[in-house]
Amino acid sequence: SEKASRIWYDGHSLAAKLYHHVLTSTDEGKAAREYLRKRGFTKEAIDTFQIGYAPNSWDFLTSFLQKRNFPMKEMVACGLVSVREFDQKPFDRFRDRIMFPIWNKQGEIIAFGGRVLKEGNPKYLNSPESTVFNKGETLYFFHKARQTIRKKNEAVLFEGYVDVISAWRAGIENGVAALGTALTETQTKLLRRVTDQVILCYDPDNAGQNATYKNARLLEKAGIRVRVAQLPDGYDPDEFIQKQGAERFNQDIIGRSLTLMGFKSLFFRRGKNLQDEGQRMDYIHQMLKEISSLTRAVERDHYLRQISEEFSISLDALKQEQRQIYRERV
Ligand code: CTP
Ligand code: MN
Ligand code: MN
Ligand code: MN
Ligand code: MN
Repeated sequence: SEKASRIWYDGHSLAAKLYHHVLTSTDEGKAAREYLRKRGFTKEAIDTFQIGYAPNSWDFLTSFLQKRNFPMKEMVACGLVSVREFDQKPFDRFRDRIMFPIWNKQGEIIAFGGRVLKEGNPKYLNSPESTVFNKGETLYFFHKARQTIRKKNEAVLFEGYVDVISAWRAGIENGVAALGTALTETQTKLLRRVTDQVILCYDPDNAGQNATYKNARLLEKAGIRVRVAQLPDGYDPDEFIQKQGAERFNQDIIGRSLTLMGFKSLFFRRGKNLQDEGQRMDYIHQMLKEISSLTRAVERDHYLRQISEEFSISLDALKQEQRQIYRERV
């Protein structure tokens, strides 16, 4: 109900304020402050993203909420508080974690992502899904980034919270992230309402590249023109910005993002040895399939010529095979 939602929003808003206070102004927050400092988080970033720290306590937030007469049943339902199984005693869900508030598109805090400071499992503990927090409907930082996305007519889609924040520090204020890697149709529609151009900037590992391929398809289907920023192996966007600097990220990574077909060409080459005839034929077939789905003849011709030149195959043979693939499509 609307009244319950209000209590949930208020609980999250209060929790965010408390966690932020613990991080910025208490002794308990010292290790977390140090952790964030080492990772290059500025004071401005910590304030803009309302980052906090949940102390290593079982009842810090719980007792605070109880004192303020927040109904425990609601606080459990929205995931701020957990309950002990054998006697239903409430306790803090988030302990000893860096807290990243997650907003809905109206700017209400509806969830948290909580990161461990050291190694630990899970690395990120997220709020459970609820009637106000649906992961697949949420884009991290969308409530703030949307103005810039509109103005530039372009969004940059990242994998992680920290990538969005580092990119923001590097001057990229139109960055958002899906929570996890799989983009949903709802998130795509959310983006489509404010722009028709998206740059995908995922991790260069297999998981990130596979997600790029999948998400690009979804975005394209919604009428969004996709480009893909490619990072060198071993760097996610945040790591690249830390080690190579904001300027290089803007110029070399975002500035040189590939067209979708350029990305696909690299993607299908991954793990293949093109000196091997069979693998080369697989690659060419995969590319011809992609080319068959292009609606513009000029574009098809352009990419067919590229393949023709690279592999010394006659354009006629490529065209024939591409038409064959097209006819076989359902
Ligand atoms: N994620 C998650 N739960 C995990 C791991 C990841 O929800 N156990 C989500 C988080 O939203 C995270 C994103 O997936 O931001 C990307 O994961 P990953 O690349 O592993 O983390 P980073 O964003 O690089 O985080 P960090 O730099 O803090 O290690
Ligand atoms: Mn502050
Ligand atoms: Mn990743
Ligand atoms: Mn990452
Ligand atoms: Mn990272």
